[in-house]
Amino acid sequence: MRIDVVTIFPAYLDPLREALLGRAVERGLLEIAVHDLRRWTHDVHQAVDDAPYGGGPGMVMRPQVWGEALDEVLPAGPQPARLVVPTPAGRPFTQTTARAWADEQRLVFACGRYEGIDERVLLDARARGIEVDEVSIGDYVLVGGEVAVLVMVEAVARLLPGVLGNPRSAAEDSFSDGLLEGPSYTRPETWRELAVPDVLRGGNHAAIARWRRDRALERTRDRRPDLLDALPPDALDAADRAV
Ligand code: ADE
Repeated sequence: MRIDVVTIFPAYLDPLREALLGRAVERGLLEIAVHDLRRWTHDVHQAVDDAPYGGGPGMVMRPQVWGEALDEVLPAGPQPARLVVPTPAGRPFTQTTARAWADEQRLVFACGRYEGIDERVLLDARARGIEVDEVSIGDYVLVGGEVAVLVMVEAVARLLPGVLGNPRSAAEDSFSDGLLEGPSYTRPETWRELAVPDVLRGGNHAAIARWRRDRALERTRDRRPDLLDALPPDALDAADRAV
């Protein structure tokens, strides 16, 4: 997969070169290019924003600069990239979104600042056949899209084949079955007088699976009852319903 990020703060994306993602890039599983939006300005001040039509606070990012940037960064051709625009006004980004994007060849992220990007940039991209997703990572307002891009790229990249050491980590993590993951334990068996639950030390795999499922159900009911409501009708069996 190839990921391009266009931003006025390229250094904000430096963490993409660290840890798991950095190793994925080194191993050729993922290619990441970060572009400074100001490269496509033509004035001495390298201005990227202007006052909003209709008045109001804040500034809007100019269409000409973004238009030229995307003309260059978004590849034309039979398999165009998906354009992702992080915004608190977007559709929610979820694990389902991450899984869908993990199948793409190319993602281009356009980071807005201020009051966002002139709407015509997105209209123009859509008119040229580019898929544009405006997405929010949560119901709070950040100062720009850069941190949201870090979140989304990490969520997508860990699903790419070979990125995680153990592919079961992605298959079995929270949300893969629509539930939150339950608690985990490692050695020592007793720590500060707190013991690891007996069942986890017993070696009865069916009992362990049942215990984990029960804790996941309890935790989801307690913390995210909306997730239980959203499960398909056949997702819970009689044993699950007894929890
Ligand atoms: N930009 C500002 N706030 C955001 C959010 N919550 N999600 C995505 N992009 C944003």
